[in-house]
Amino acid sequence: MNDLLRQTCHDTITEIKHAGLYKNQRVISTRQGTHVTVAGQDYLNFCANNYLGLSGKQELVDIAKQAVEQYGFGLSSVRFICGTQTIHHELEQKLASWFHKEAAITFTSCWDANEAVFATLLTAADAIITDELNHASLIDGMRLCKADRHIFKHMDMADLEQQLNDTQTKRLRCIVTDGVFSMDGDVAPLKAICDLADHYNAYVVVDDSHASGFMGATGRGAVEQAGVLNRVDIITTTFGKALGGSNGGCIISSASVIELLHQRARTTLFTNSLSPMIAAVTMFVLDYVDQHPELREQLWANTDYFRSGMIQAGFTVPTSVHPIVPVMIGDGKIANAMANDMLNEGIYVIGFSHPVVPMGKARIRVQISASHTTDQIDQLLTAFTKLGKKYKII
Ligand SMILES: Cc1ncc(COP(=O)(O)O)c(C=O)c1O
Repeated sequence: MNDLLRQTCHDTITEIKHAGLYKNQRVISTRQGTHVTVAGQDYLNFCANNYLGLSGKQELVDIAKQAVEQYGFGLSSVRFICGTQTIHHELEQKLASWFHKEAAITFTSCWDANEAVFATLLTAADAIITDELNHASLIDGMRLCKADRHIFKHMDMADLEQQLNDTQTKRLRCIVTDGVFSMDGDVAPLKAICDLADHYNAYVVVDDSHASGFMGATGRGAVEQAGVLNRVDIITTTFGKALGGSNGGCIISSASVIELLHQRARTTLFTNSLSPMIAAVTMFVLDYVDQHPELREQLWANTDYFRSGMIQAGFTVPTSVHPIVPVMIGDGKIANAMANDMLNEGIYVIGFSHPVVPMGKARIRVQISASHTTDQIDQLLTAFTKLGKKYKII
């Protein structure tokens, strides 16, 4: 081992620790769910993106087992060599029809989808106009692309319009936003974005990872909730949150966009295809979402119950409606200490501090699931109230 490399890594880790930013992983020995076991202790889990409670569900495990029997474990190949099975085509057709679009392409993650979506479709002749708080995967995807990048202030439509005005000479203009922003759970103003895109002849990319499966009347996401499913040009999303919780992601768009992605996207040309068992489970989950509207209703009822309980208890939580509920603490050290203390109350939540969120805006991010019971949410409220008083937050 090269000593200089070893020492450089060690020094950087020491810096991370001194800055109080070192992340300790808590290791779960059970399936994902409302109850998890960490180091032999049972906890109520309130920090998974398990919005519909499907991760770890037995029906999904059974479908995965059947798919492994039929299609095997994996393909040892990228898509265009010998890595495409019937199940990949079936899933892509289903995703297209489920989202009411022409075509879809799957990836092994939404991260890979977001890496593909800019560099493949845009050149130096084009411009990307992007919300300042977009997800890291969108930011890295844009970095791989030669188009000019213009950043608009978070959800600020006047600033977006200014950037559209300033880029009139460009060939293509692509507006990019998360459907829901993961730190605050705030929902992008998608109708206003589409109106501006129409006016300035730009196109719109929405990463709906925190909304696909449960937002909107039929669970098609923030794009459906805003009434712009048919106006957004490209949707990217993950299978790793509400839609089963494993891996995988996709891009849904017009036939020509998807065809070009198959030809040119480096994260499909040079990396293995999605595991067939995940493709099969995702097909099942899309039907499951259609057949179980009560899960969405339960999720919204649970979210509302928790949010109003916290406001009543005197906590500051932003006014959004999303099951991501950031409990604002302010000081990063207090947020982390409080999240650790929550473990003693049998509750698993995580504190977020600088640089993940702006300085002074540390929070404990709670994520509600359809599978939480009222009793469990009451336990969460009781624990927050107890510790909120201890740390003089309320
Ligand atoms: C908005 C958003 N986009 C993309 C991703 C990446 O998804 P995946 O885990 O499928 O790579 C995440 C995951 O945290 C996300 O929150």
